[in-house]
Amino acid sequence: GAPVEVDIASLKVGEKITVEWRGKPVWILRRSPEQVALLPKHDAQLADPQSKRHPDEFTPVYAQNEGRSIKPEVLVVVGICTHLGCSPVDRLQSGPQPSLPADWEGGFLCPCHGSTFDLAGRVYKNKPAPDNLPVPPHMYLSDTRLLIG
Ligand code: FES
Repeated sequence: GAPVEVDIASLKVGEKITVEWRGKPVWILRRSPEQVALLPKHDAQLADPQSKRHPDEFTPVYAQNEGRSIKPEVLVVVGICTHLGCSPVDRLQSGPQPSLPADWEGGFLCPCHGSTFDLAGRVYKNKPAPDNLPVPPHMYLSDTRLLIG
């Protein structure tokens, strides 16, 4: 499949857009600085906080950091659960919610078997999904032009 170019200049904080790449949904989410700052807080609850497992498959070298991203505030991930391929839904509000960790800061929930992911697409421990949401190959052509693939 051909690479997909996306202009994220108008992507607001807290907003997520979905683009199609190789027939897969790729999410682009602009996190707030506060959300980025909170990411390390939950490392102990995550299955693979540093994205060390299958790095070539799930996390390119340039995204092997806390936010799993090139720009700290912009998350780019494939929106397909690593368990059996359902599409997780947004859970972006903070505060207690059913089936989510009590100190939930927001992220994604897979409706099929309840796997939860944080705002970097990192999967929580003891959930059916074994791995973090994949970060697709991507790069910035300019400050706001993103190339996926
Ligand atoms: Fe997502 Fe099973 S497909 S938890």
